[in-house]
Amino acid sequence: MTDAHTAGPFIAAIDQGTTSSRCIVFDKDGRIVSVDQKEHEQIFPRPAWVEHDAAEIWTNVQEVVSNALIKARISREDIKAIGITNQRETTLLWDRHTGEPVHNAIVWQDTRTDALCRELGRNVGQDRFRRETGLPLASYFAGPKVRWLLDNVEGLRERAERGDILFGTMDSWVIWNLTGGVDGGVHVTDVTNASRTMLMNLHTMEWDDKILTSMEIPAAILPEIRSSAEVYGTAKGVLEGIPVAAALGDQQAALFGQTCFAEGEAKSTYGTGTFLLMNTADKIINSYSGLLTTVGYRIGDQKPVYALEGSIAVTGSLVQWMRDQMGLISTAAEIETLASSVEDNGGAYFVPAFSGLFAPYWRSDARGVIAGLTRYVTKAHIARAVLEATAWQTREIVDAMHKDSGVDLTALKVDGGMTSNNLLMQTISDFLDAPVVRPMVAETTCLGAAYAAGLAVGFWPDTDALRANWRRAAEWTPRMDADTRDREYKSWLKAVERTMGWIDHEE
Ligand SMILES: Nc1ncnc2c1ncn2[C@@H]1O[C@H](COP(=O)(O)OP(=O)(O)OP(=O)(O)O)[C@@H](O)[C@H]1O
Ligand SMILES: [Mg+2]
Repeated sequence: MTDAHTAGPFIAAIDQGTTSSRCIVFDKDGRIVSVDQKEHEQIFPRPAWVEHDAAEIWTNVQEVVSNALIKARISREDIKAIGITNQRETTLLWDRHTGEPVHNAIVWQDTRTDALCRELGRNVGQDRFRRETGLPLASYFAGPKVRWLLDNVEGLRERAERGDILFGTMDSWVIWNLTGGVDGGVHVTDVTNASRTMLMNLHTMEWDDKILTSMEIPAAILPEIRSSAEVYGTAKGVLEGIPVAAALGDQQAALFGQTCFAEGEAKSTYGTGTFLLMNTADKIINSYSGLLTTVGYRIGDQKPVYALEGSIAVTGSLVQWMRDQMGLISTAAEIETLASSVEDNGGAYFVPAFSGLFAPYWRSDARGVIAGLTRYVTKAHIARAVLEATAWQTREIVDAMHKDSGVDLTALKVDGGMTSNNLLMQTISDFLDAPVVRPMVAETTCLGAAYAAGLAVGFWPDTDALRANWRRAAEWTPRMDADTRDREYKSWLKAVERTMGWIDHEE
């Protein structure tokens, strides 16, 4: 039942994530009224290939939306707008006449476009499109995945050139279906998602013709690029008549949900991977330290807000790997109990370069290592090394951010599933030598999408009203002495060196 604290109206957010889809209903104070969530299958056709069934995802999205409304005991008239947030870069092509995907979605972690990216960078290098897009050539981004599909699905290029095929990241797929699909669904994406395709020019916020030509991608398949907070259309089905009013990539949504609206404000989200984003206001800061330049958000017809991003591919998924592949723990939370049973890492360092290294290295030839092993090391030390891996990778990103922007982080705002791990949060604070703070609502991804949708329809008047909702729930302060920190950091960096060059790239 909705009591006095959760009186309507409400905003709903859909988070189409890498491992699951969620729907959360929020009230005006930004508090959670109800949540529903459903996992989808991770398809691994070959080592380092990862796919999702987009039809399964759309079914799950509809289900979690219905269930969230039922759990909140509200009817759809109480919902004033819907915001979408999504796993970024995951790439889908579908038939505009039937609504059927032409292939499974290729997930952001998938490295099948590695050779293609090296080919595109031939003679010019990894930074061929960096000035226009803010991104290095890497298998992570959507553009090369589109090209791979056009080259590898029989007859697809002809269909695409005829105008029968639509491309989208998961925001576009959800919005198109939500607004009617084959019956007038709108084909749009927002600036944040578009900024991860490697096809959008950061300066003009439009698809870059030169890059499209270089990548051999027909413009006919591309969605229209819109703001992150504006009404794209109205929903059909369970949410009939409700404005679909926001879209943001999940990490940008978390930046928004953490109310990092001022230049220099940053957050780090600890989920499957970890992504640290810093608001750089209207400045497109070129990175010389392996960070990405990306769009933070754009509200209505205001100017876009840019961000610097440090992306770490493997953090929470290393904990999952310890659970599912190694069987050393039976739940993710047990990693903390096991790691806490020893004082330190016993000399062991774990660099989880499972699909190469993302920021700040961008090395696709790296693979994971556990370094420093002796007869002394136990599974508890390894558990500690697992947590320290997340903390050291954060430290490397923070150092790079400082080099590129000159901004010193005074405190790090954190969120995501791994922030329930106290030992990890303390370790991050120790390694950064800075306080780490977590807000009351750790579901900042959904919250950010709800905030953007609420702003678009006037549910909240401005970003100041959103800031007022941010409340600190926990804080960790550094307790490690400088000598230990410096010595440990050196050992970590030595371990990182040992991951490089493991894969021989054959031409
Ligand atoms: N107590 C814990 N200690 C360490 N890691 C944890 C703990 N609890 C959860 N995790 C890890 O956090 C991750 C889940 O966090 P979260 O739900 O924020 O993921 P996510 O990245 O949002 O998922 P998606 O990719 O679907 O969006 C999992 O990888 C899990 O292993
Ligand atoms: Mg997520």
